[in-house]
Amino acid sequence: MIGQDLLGIENLEREQIELILETAERMQEIGAREVKKVPTLRGHTLVNLFFEPSTRTQTSFEIAGKRLSADVVNFSASSSSLTKAESLLDTGKTIDAMDPDAVIVRHKVAGVPQRLADVLEAPVINAGDGAHEHPSQALLDMLTVSQEKGRIEGLTVAIIGDIAHSRVARSNIYGFTKLGAEVRVAGPPTMLPARVEALGVKAYTSLREALDGADVVMALRIQNERIAGACFPSVREYSATFGLDRVKLRYARPDAIVMHPGPVNRGVELSHDLADQRPSVVLDQVRNGVALRMALLYLIAGRRSAVERG
Ligand code: CP
Repeated sequence: MIGQDLLGIENLEREQIELILETAERMQEIGAREVKKVPTLRGHTLVNLFFEPSTRTQTSFEIAGKRLSADVVNFSASSSSLTKAESLLDTGKTIDAMDPDAVIVRHKVAGVPQRLADVLEAPVINAGDGAHEHPSQALLDMLTVSQEKGRIEGLTVAIIGDIAHSRVARSNIYGFTKLGAEVRVAGPPTMLPARVEALGVKAYTSLREALDGADVVMALRIQNERIAGACFPSVREYSATFGLDRVKLRYARPDAIVMHPGPVNRGVELSHDLADQRPSVVLDQVRNGVALRMALLYLIAGRRSAVERG
C-alpha cells in the first residue's frame, strides 16, 4: 500500500484489509505503553484537509500521526483562502506543493477525495465523502468486531437506520462481506437505497427480522445534513420503530454487541443506557480508531517516504 490512495473499501482486496487489521493490532501495543510514541514517521508531514466537521476522525488521525512522530497540520477551511474564492483543486494543489507525505480528506461531496487524488502527488486518504465511503471508520469497526468476537467470517452483522445517506454503511457493507460476514440492513423504506441487495446484503423493514440471530448490531446516525425531505413521520416514531434499546436488543443473539460510529443522537438511535454501557462498544470503536489510523499512516505514508528518501 506504499504511496497508494485509500479512497474506499470497495476497491480493497480481502488481503489488504487483513493486513491493515493486523498492523492496527500491533499499533495497539504502542497505545498501551506509558510513552505512547515511536519515531516511525519522524520527519514526515501529514495534512488533515477537513472541509466538513469532525470530532473522532480528525482528532484520531492527528493523534495517530503524532504517536508515530509525524508533523501533523490541521487545515481549517473556514480560515483558509477558500473564503477568498480559491477553488478546491487549487487548495489541494497548494497543500501538495508543500510536499506532505499524506493528505487526509473529508468533504460533504462524494468523489472529492478521488478528484484530489487524481491531481495530487501525495497519497490521499478518504476521511469520509458525502454518502459515498468512510473507509477508516469501517476498518476500525472491523477491528472492533474481530477483537470482540475473535472472528468476522460467519458472523451476522445487522446495520440499522439511515442506510441510504450513510457512507459508514456502504464501507461496512463492502468490508464485512469481503471478510465473510452476512450483512443485513434495516430501516424505513425511505432510508433503504434502491437495489441495495446488489451490494450483497439482505434488506429488511422489520427491525425484529433483521436482528433475529444477529451477532453485531450497528446503529447509524440519521444523516440530517444529507436528507432533503422527511424520511419518517417524526423522530418519536423513528425511535419507537428503529431506535435500539435493551428490549429490542433481545431479538438479537444474547451475546450480541452494539455499535455506533458516532456522533450518537441519544434517545433516538440508541437509548441512553445502551449508548454508555455494555453490550455497547461505542467508545472501544473510538479507541480502536487511533490504532487503526496509525496502521493506515504507517502503511500508506511511512514506507513510501522511507523508500523514496533512501
Ligand atoms: N464517525 C465519525 O466519522 O465521526 P466524526 O464525524 O466525529 O469524525
